Amino acid sequence: MIEWDDKYSVGISVIDEEHKEFINIINMAIVTKEHNDNPEEIREVLHKMVKYALTHFATEETYMIKFNFSGCQLHRNEHLDFADKAVANINKVINGDYQVANEILEYLKQWLLNHIQGTDRKYIDCFNENGLYNAGLNKDLQIFRFKSYPP
Ligand SMILES: [Fe+2]
Repeated sequence: MIEWDDKYSVGISVIDEEHKEFINIINMAIVTKEHNDNPEEIREVLHKMVKYALTHFATEETYMIKFNFSGCQLHRNEHLDFADKAVANINKVINGDYQVANEILEYLKQWLLNHIQGTDRKYIDCFNENGLYNAGLNKDLQIFRFKSYPP
């Protein structure tokens, strides 16, 4: 099982809270794989993925548009790929193929590594500069903290 860790944080609480939901989804996928693609659990994981795409991606994209973030379109393409992955697997399930837990889990693991720990970090400076950072932390301190992360 994967636990929330500071290495996943973008230092913006509103986004970190939603990313914690992603950790819940990945853990559900781990359990589903262990349960040999239990159909009920597969459906639940896919349902959560769609819900996450609709809510969390909307949060990030709203800020990107509001703050005129230059990497918005590329970032959005990754979000669309995630949604496509969920839909493709829903179609498999509709067609009676429930053996999808492993494929979903591998995709979610890559997402955590490449998107949450990679792509999402690219908007941090832009969001910070536009005043979005953890409440209670000095803005300069917050930026300093991000810069201290390994590249
Ligand atoms: Fe994102």
